[in-house]
Amino acid sequence: MRILLGVSGGIAAYKAVLLLRLLREAGHAVRVIPTAAALRFVGAPTWEALSGEPVSTEVFDDVEHVQHVALGKGADLVVVAPATADLLARAATGRADDLLTSTLLTARCPVVMAPAMHTEMWDHPATRANVATLRARGVHVIEPASGRLTGKDTGPGRLPEPEDIARAALAVVGAPDAGGAPDAVRDLAGRRVVVSAGGTREPIDPVRFIGNRSTGRQGVALAQAARARGAHVTLVAANIADPPAGAADDVVAVETTAQLRDAVRTAAAQADVVVMAAAVADFRPAAAPAAKIKKVPGQGPAPIELVENPDVLAELAADRLRPGQVVVGFAAETGDDQGDVLHHGRAKARRKGADLLAVNAVGGGLGFGTADNAVTLLDAAGETVAEAAGSKRDVADAIWDAVAKLFA
Ligand code: CTP
Repeated sequence: MRILLGVSGGIAAYKAVLLLRLLREAGHAVRVIPTAAALRFVGAPTWEALSGEPVSTEVFDDVEHVQHVALGKGADLVVVAPATADLLARAATGRADDLLTSTLLTARCPVVMAPAMHTEMWDHPATRANVATLRARGVHVIEPASGRLTGKDTGPGRLPEPEDIARAALAVVGAPDAGGAPDAVRDLAGRRVVVSAGGTREPIDPVRFIGNRSTGRQGVALAQAARARGAHVTLVAANIADPPAGAADDVVAVETTAQLRDAVRTAAAQADVVVMAAAVADFRPAAAPAAKIKKVPGQGPAPIELVENPDVLAELAADRLRPGQVVVGFAAETGDDQGDVLHHGRAKARRKGADLLAVNAVGGGLGFGTADNAVTLLDAAGETVAEAAGSKRDVADAIWDAVAKLFA
């Protein structure tokens, strides 16, 4: 594979020397494109000796070969490490004032950027906006590590270790990493998926709502896993506090079931897979007064009249907004005197009509708010397709394995 390694001018440029070695050892041809500032930290002879390729920083070098076009078009992967605040800003605004930024405009392959800077710079709204812009365009911006920075200060902004950057970058294109690990699974490449996550809130009045305990972590893990497997992901986030940056290509924040239904159905019209991981309220107050409901001392509370919400999952399964679309639901069950968790899960699978239903037991330390999860995957007939347990990411990957099998 042909890799372009962009290096911008930060002290962490020295770590890019190790990254270059790792990429070369993994068998790739690597051309280094430092910025002029990067050369003040590590000189061109180092890059040339270790890459075995010429090094230039300006578009005016070697003009007859129109380098920025040839390099960008010929690359299978571009990795920029470290990406300084200035480089992120130039890339986000489409500047082309040196060979690296010009090449970023001509490259059509995956681009991975590993930022490194002081915490204040990383946290600045300008940098956050630049990162969001780049991510929205499909650039894989790796989160910086936390730890010792250049001076005595510590915090997020540290360049991740070269091994971690190499692994993350090679995984983006499905190449084995330097350690010869198995290919990253890219079985959702080219697929569009919608994941709903979190829990809906149904207003009682302007300050109160009916809600539930869902944190959205399982849904976020599904979004992250799908992205890692190559999908374009829309996350419909119901009341999730700060979904992690980069969890999805698009995030639509919603509050109520009605908003969630609209957002999911709009995105589902273009999607190959819809996963309803959100905990959706079955009922909502019939009326949500515009003014706060007051307590009248000595009088009991007025009853809250509830009306039924649409069943978003059942509707999606029945409507199939796109031919061949796979619809996945969740069922959080406790088991009762009518039957155990699986008994209720099988009945729900048949009732909802989704292609897959991930049944998990809740209560007793399982489910909502916990780090780990365990699910049984059922088909529309209620038959067991697979079982998965472990971290929410492990469970997410097991669900995508089952979805990928349906596509195959
Ligand atoms: N769901 C939905 N719309 C609703 C209620 C639930 O889309 N109004 C979806 C959830 O996102 C989940 C699945 O349906 O994927 C199962 O949710 P659950 O609350 O377990 O199912 P219910 O149909 O509400 O069944 P019950 O409350 O009787 O267990």
